[in-house]
Amino acid sequence: MAFKVQDHYFRKAKTQHYLARAVYKLEEIQKRYKILRAADRVLDLGAAPGSWIQLAGGVVGQSGLIVGIDLKPIEHAFANRVVTLQGDIFDREFVEAALSGYLPFDVVLSDMAPATSGIRVADSARSALLFERAFEIALWALQPGGTFLAKIFHGSEFHQLLARLKKQFSQTRVIRPEATRKQSREIYILAMNLKRT
Ligand SMILES: C[S@@+](CC[C@H](N)C(=O)[O-])C[C@H]1O[C@@H](n2cnc3c(N)ncnc32)[C@H](O)[C@@H]1O
Repeated sequence: MAFKVQDHYFRKAKTQHYLARAVYKLEEIQKRYKILRAADRVLDLGAAPGSWIQLAGGVVGQSGLIVGIDLKPIEHAFANRVVTLQGDIFDREFVEAALSGYLPFDVVLSDMAPATSGIRVADSARSALLFERAFEIALWALQPGGTFLAKIFHGSEFHQLLARLKKQFSQTRVIRPEATRKQSREIYILAMNLKRT
């Protein structure tokens, strides 16, 4: 049975009515890098249960847009202009049909994580595949100058993927937010200013 530690961030999320403790990772990145701005159009991959949408919604406001996709339904009723879609990001037809009416985006976020098996190599390979697919979607969906933030488990694929991002974006940062659980191998890659091709 999975054991979830009800730590400081978990309790804080409950008190502040956020849907998940994951919100504090995005909050920290936002405080430091200001990746989200008023009126931005944001695509959130792996958005359930929706805490990143809550935080991003507060920043982009009524003139912005957030589209959240997840394998699981996102059931929360959000205040701002939010569209939630249930589906698999590896399903190309679904992604293209679902997003074509909302293009282009200013920011693509991915907090996607695979269902973990406990086998380190397999889990990091699955995380890398999710990251790679999020990167591919970002290149298709972002406008030039756009920002991509995505989670990946640190593993052998990491350096090669980071090198690929560096070719497409002017600036990259590797971030391990304070709110990341101590035992977790997850990190975030922030890529800013998508180059024009
Ligand atoms: C850590 S949770 C995201 C938490 C979210 N950022 C929040 O703040 O509420 C990771 C999500 O990735 C989703 N996910 C994993 N694989 C996916 C896939 N192939 N397509 C879409 N979503 C996926 C999972 O269903 C899960 O809800």
